Amino acid sequence: MDKYIINGGRRLEGQVRVQTAKNSVLPILAASVLTDEKVTVLNVPDITDVRNMVKILGCLGCRAVYRGDDVIVESSCANNCEIPRALAHELRSSVFLLGSVISRFRRAKIAYPGGCDIGLRPVDLHLTGLKRLGVKITESNGYIVCECERLTGNEIMLDCPSVGATENIMLAAVRAEGTTVIENAAREPEIEDLQNFLNSMGAKVRGAGSGTVVIEGVKRLGGSVYQPIADRIEAGTFLIAAAMCGGEVELCGANAENLSSLLHKLRENGCKIRIKNDKIYLRSERRPVSVKSIETQPYPGFPTDLQAQMTALCCVSSGNCIITENLFETRFKYVPELRRMGADITVVDRSAFVRGVEKLKGAVTVAHDLRGGAALVIAALAAEGDSEVLDISHIDRGYARFEYKLLSLGAGIKRVGV
Ligand code: UD1
Repeated sequence: MDKYIINGGRRLEGQVRVQTAKNSVLPILAASVLTDEKVTVLNVPDITDVRNMVKILGCLGCRAVYRGDDVIVESSCANNCEIPRALAHELRSSVFLLGSVISRFRRAKIAYPGGCDIGLRPVDLHLTGLKRLGVKITESNGYIVCECERLTGNEIMLDCPSVGATENIMLAAVRAEGTTVIENAAREPEIEDLQNFLNSMGAKVRGAGSGTVVIEGVKRLGGSVYQPIADRIEAGTFLIAAAMCGGEVELCGANAENLSSLLHKLRENGCKIRIKNDKIYLRSERRPVSVKSIETQPYPGFPTDLQAQMTALCCVSSGNCIITENLFETRFKYVPELRRMGADITVVDRSAFVRGVEKLKGAVTVAHDLRGGAALVIAALAAEGDSEVLDISHIDRGYARFEYKLLSLGAGIKRVGV
């Protein structure tokens, strides 16, 4: 497995183009099974989650290929409704395929999904929602088996605003008979993006981005050429890195509105931020001042996917901060690794208490999940001396060309095969 060797303490300066959002591309690729016509998804990031999704589409009998930066899917030859265990374990988003595969074949069989080990990550809301549309669900030997004669629209109230459950139900409902209303739907920008993509195929979906999504079933969907939104989590990771290392960074192709909870915190930290069209400019000249508290919440609250990176920033800010993780139980696995670098953090239940230190020191750390891994990299960039971050395959799941982008900003980072 590859590792990063990082020489810390350098300012970050320059311009970075934000990648297309992983969390948009994955459900959009899953949705491509809903049509027999060609779907082209533009500027897809080269990350392992996407590569695994492309492999899964191949297993379903679709022709899914990369052409340059784009992914082209032709599903007219899809002939298999089973998602093999090995691939489902590689990629949690394989669960989104339930909605589209059941819609297409009236049957779907999928092993319980994998993904980051950041807590229980149940799929009960996905399954309850599908049942409300008429799907019969049985579970055996670690497989979820879904069957139905037909899909019928219904009203569905989610117990909590789950991103994946909202998207899965949308995918199952677009070609159902009648109208589906999802209440307490997740409001993440990627859900609105999925709506826009589905509508570009001829679907009738409205309300995404609010708590109520209405899907009027249509008989058929056509092809589409679609550019998904920018990756707000990748963008946020670069902004936090610049805040932590000091310097001036400009992000191009970003959407500041989708990042407002982070931008508020970074301004409180003392960073200068300017926004113009699709550009976000951040300047950080002195040691950041700690914000008092951060609580992860569903959108538009502070994203859980930036919690680890923000905790890293708090480690070198002046003052104390309490970071509370409300979405996933075990999302503090990176904390012992940051402690190896001299961070002063105590975790009690769902909260991390951080007392800022002047400097972190280089150390050897291990990435345990995608965002925790990114946090270790930016901590190492800001630390004094040399660090290693091991097991970076986790980071490759979500950040395309991560080290090249950091190198272009002047970071001292190199990938080494182990
Ligand atoms: C998506 C994102 C992930 C992000 C998360 C929260 C993708 C591919 N992944 O994950 O990057 O961290 O949103 O913003 O888009 N829950 C249940 N039962 C369910 C489903 C979820 O109890 O059936 C709970 C979860 O345990 C969690 C909360 O709901 O506490 C939110 O999870 P959810 O929004 O579903 O996250 P994902 O869709 O898995």
